[in-house]
Amino acid sequence: MFNKDFRPRRLRTSDTLRRMVRETRISADSLIWPIFIIEGEGICDEIPSLPGQYHYSPDMLGRAVERMRAHGVSRVLLFGLPKHKDENGSSAWDSNGVVQQGIRALRAIAPELYIITDVCMCEYTSHGHCGILCGHYVDNDRTLEVLARTAVSHARAGADMVAPSDMMDGRVAAIRAALDENGFVNTPVMAYSAKFASTFYGPFRDAAGSAPAFGDRRSYQMDPHNGREAMRECELDVQEGADILMIKPAMPYLDLVRECRDRFDLPVAAYQVSGEYAMIKAAAKAGLIDEYGVMCESAVSIFRAGADILITYFACELADAIRKGD
Ligand code: PBG
Ligand code: ZN
Repeated sequence: MFNKDFRPRRLRTSDTLRRMVRETRISADSLIWPIFIIEGEGICDEIPSLPGQYHYSPDMLGRAVERMRAHGVSRVLLFGLPKHKDENGSSAWDSNGVVQQGIRALRAIAPELYIITDVCMCEYTSHGHCGILCGHYVDNDRTLEVLARTAVSHARAGADMVAPSDMMDGRVAAIRAALDENGFVNTPVMAYSAKFASTFYGPFRDAAGSAPAFGDRRSYQMDPHNGREAMRECELDVQEGADILMIKPAMPYLDLVRECRDRFDLPVAAYQVSGEYAMIKAAAKAGLIDEYGVMCESAVSIFRAGADILITYFACELADAIRKGD
């Protein structure tokens, strides 16, 4: 029955009131900024596929730190672009590898940073797949060994948290066991639990030089049609000892962010990926949308869907927006 006395607009009459009755409240503490570390010296170059994001060589990471400090962002997710690639991705676990160098450099200049590392093989393998090949198929269990080795080497270099993004079965358990055996019982694992074989990763693969040389990632990353399977992946990661679950990409998968939040007790992270970022940048550049507004609204949507943590290339700009109450 229509109730003419119910006037939702009554609570929208002023900014003070609107802010008081807000349901979704966001904190800059929930933001993680992904950055790309490239082997070499003196490099701080804008990434063509990700306007506003840079390749930093380890000696130039001070630039990234300055930017983070200017915006009050203190959590960072590291990706590496190594000089050397081979069949097995061996530079991924090299104690002097690009990410390991980057971690040490960041630690030295910014002890306050919380450093998370992406753990995967695709940036380090000559074929660009996320693990060790057996013919054209990524061998699951052999890949577990190198992922575990890589995670331990990141922790040894000083990483605070590791985030496996490879989508091999059993990798959270393998990494947890390896960390524990090596004395890193307090290093949490943020699992890319439901990571889809998404076309939204295009700009990242250009930025990281990690596109597969043949085929695609559909034999390990998830089929975008599958929501129930995504919950199964989350369930497995809970059982294997994940500390944080992640849904990736974010906006096209908000149904799963919500479902993950409702079903599990662990913190839920969502990754607003490179394609989501690049689309907003491109549309704004073309004069089609307002970048600031869309950035804010997309973040609100992701948190409203139930994310506790947002990984986004907009982290710095978003932190300012959050403090302004936008
Ligand atoms: C590595 C990895 C990828 C992303 C995060 N970790 C690329 C991929 O799986 O192909 C994508 C991030 C983004 O698009 O912003 N496996
Ligand atoms: Zn990968």
